[in-house]
Amino acid sequence: MSDPQNGWVNPLRSDIDKRLPRIAGPSGMVIFGVTGDLARKKLLPAIYDLANRGLLPAGFTLIGFGRREWSKEEFTEYVRAAVEEGARTKFHQSVWERLAEGMNFAQGNFDDDEAFDKLAAMLAEMDAHRGTGGNWGFYLSIPPNSFADVCHQLERTGMAKATEESWRRVIIEKPFGQDEESAKELNNIVNAVFPEESVFRIDHYLGKETVQNILALRFANQLFDPLWTSQYIEQVQITMAEDIGLGGRAGYYDGIGAARDVIQNHLLQLLALIAMDEPVSFSPDQLRMEKVKVLRATHPVYPLDETTARGQYTAGWQGSEKVVGLREEEGFDPQSNTETYAALTLEVQNRRWAGVPFYLRSGKRLGRRVTEIALIFKNAPHLPFDASDISALGNNAVVIRVQPDEGVLMRFGSKVPGTEMEVRDVNMDFSYSEAFTEESPEAYERLILDALLAESSLFPTNEEVELSWQILDPILDFWAEDGRPDEYKAGTWGPESGDQMLARNGHAWRRP
Ligand code: BG6
Repeated sequence: MSDPQNGWVNPLRSDIDKRLPRIAGPSGMVIFGVTGDLARKKLLPAIYDLANRGLLPAGFTLIGFGRREWSKEEFTEYVRAAVEEGARTKFHQSVWERLAEGMNFAQGNFDDDEAFDKLAAMLAEMDAHRGTGGNWGFYLSIPPNSFADVCHQLERTGMAKATEESWRRVIIEKPFGQDEESAKELNNIVNAVFPEESVFRIDHYLGKETVQNILALRFANQLFDPLWTSQYIEQVQITMAEDIGLGGRAGYYDGIGAARDVIQNHLLQLLALIAMDEPVSFSPDQLRMEKVKVLRATHPVYPLDETTARGQYTAGWQGSEKVVGLREEEGFDPQSNTETYAALTLEVQNRRWAGVPFYLRSGKRLGRRVTEIALIFKNAPHLPFDASDISALGNNAVVIRVQPDEGVLMRFGSKVPGTEMEVRDVNMDFSYSEAFTEESPEAYERLILDALLAESSLFPTNEEVELSWQILDPILDFWAEDGRPDEYKAGTWGPESGDQMLARNGHAWRRP
């Protein structure tokens, strides 16, 4: 399925990775929003990690664009601090020096023609002196309301234009809009300048090893997928719990909330990978076609007042730390109805999944940080035991632990040693850290490398983004009418309404 001779290497085949290291060709990257949190904590460290792993080309060039009056040296110092603080791999002076040689800073605002003219001249100069070959990625780590300005400038100055020999790509960060309509507008803005095959939308969950492993688990084995249907599975629970609060992100989060922040993208992508049919191959088109099919079949379950829940955290304890409630967080409007916990019930209306509830939940300041997908099986149709023998037997489950303690757990019943036939739940646990010596790369390492290589499998298409909003929009509209979210104490597992949502179906959240 890979065709290395013609330059296409299947990015999901790690055996091929080993034979042919996937090294980016001559190229450079311009980061807009380089002084932001994301660039400092994730992008810059990931670029260093790639360089350190030998996966960037020798002349790789990194240009920061921002408002600050920085010299090239000041920018380089800033990157160095970010790398020392956030890189996953060891700091090597020689790697750093080589990377730093290719750094530069362009100062200006997004509506400043002169600044973009200078940037275009800088790119041309870099092409001439550093062998970047005219290949540039533009990373928009900026709020979506600035996309139009930047795309317009990239078009006006000709920077967006690829040639026969060189490529130009845009890499964009969420939020991809606030609803389906605004997502379409954003897609139109971007697609008017960059053709869809040059647009790389980041959903960093797809860059995580454990998320890619969903494909391996399902399609490299005979053990699981035959059972992956409504015939055997009773319910699917997807949980993304965080213990952190808003911590300085009130400006971004207020008005966005948990559903728009992570369910529209990360959790629906997890759902798509779990529920989709087997793709013909892992080529970008085939993989994304299967995801689109399953997203198209996914809908909220009604009535929404019973099948959804949302909440805001109040003051409480996070471990041994006393924490404030959402409304006391700095910069947060105390009157805001923005939710920090969201739970939804969805169904996938196709032959494989009809009747199986997919419960999705995410929240800040919950009991602990954990992301997992639990497939919970129906009871065996007949249990030839006395009721007392199986009183401690629950449902079988396959649990994919996305993070932390990455791995897969299977829960099933087993006989308790002794003279009685007593059956109790036990866990069989696969853990990445025990099974492999290799450490998993950070999601952004994988995704930046893939964007430089034009490997688009792990990037959602505009269609996936719009379909995800279609699923969410009716729920967001309902919440907008419904008034205030419920409350939950920081450090707990969310509002009672989140538990009731499942209890109505005789189900309960797994305690991760
Ligand atoms: C981001 C959200 O997409 O994901 C954040 O905007 C959230 O609110 C973060 O904290 C969580 O990412 P991870 O990789 O730590 O689970």
